Amino acid sequence: MEGIRSRRSIRQFKPDDVDDRIIKQIIEMGTWAPSGLNNQPWRFVIVRDEDLRKEIAQQTRYGHIIRNAPVCIAVFLDNAASYDRVKDIQAIGACIQNMLLAIHHLGLGGVWLGEILRNRDKVEKTLQVPEDCELMAVVAIGHPAEAKGEGTRKPIDEVILHRK
Ligand SMILES: Cc1cc2nc3c(=O)[nH]c(=O)nc-3n(C[C@H](O)[C@H](O)[C@H](O)COP(=O)(O)O)c2cc1C
Repeated sequence: MEGIRSRRSIRQFKPDDVDDRIIKQIIEMGTWAPSGLNNQPWRFVIVRDEDLRKEIAQQTRYGHIIRNAPVCIAVFLDNAASYDRVKDIQAIGACIQNMLLAIHHLGLGGVWLGEILRNRDKVEKTLQVPEDCELMAVVAIGHPAEAKGEGTRKPIDEVILHRK
């Protein structure tokens, strides 16, 4: 509960690298998310290359985050593995949240970038993914260069519709 509560979106990173083994671990934790019929529709591209990051960064107004993160993970829905679009997208959301919690647990920082989806076609082309793979998000990862306090959330009674 402490981990869930203290996780914050981190958008500023130190230049220090993040080891490939750690990145693999973060992806593995993502894949332990539940999925409908256990179809595991997620696919990933690890983007370390600076030129490639710069290219992807042009596709979002949050490009500065991608340029400054040592590693980004692009997360895709494999439509060839999909059986129910809503449920598959929900599963990918669970996968990304697992990744963010793993990143936080490891003392790293990360942020879920979704605004880039308006140019998903261009990102898919740049990353040369199979035609069935649809961009769902880019997760920027690095060593945090900002300290974040408590986040803000609506009071719990505002989001509970009924007690019946
Ligand atoms: C679907 C989705 C899309 C998001 N897209 C972006 C984005 O494009 N750029 C960004 O800086 N943060 C993005 N975020 C992060 C949210 O802004 C952030 O989670 C929210 O403000 C709550 O802050 P916290 O994560 O620190 O608790 C996104 C989060 C989600 C779940």
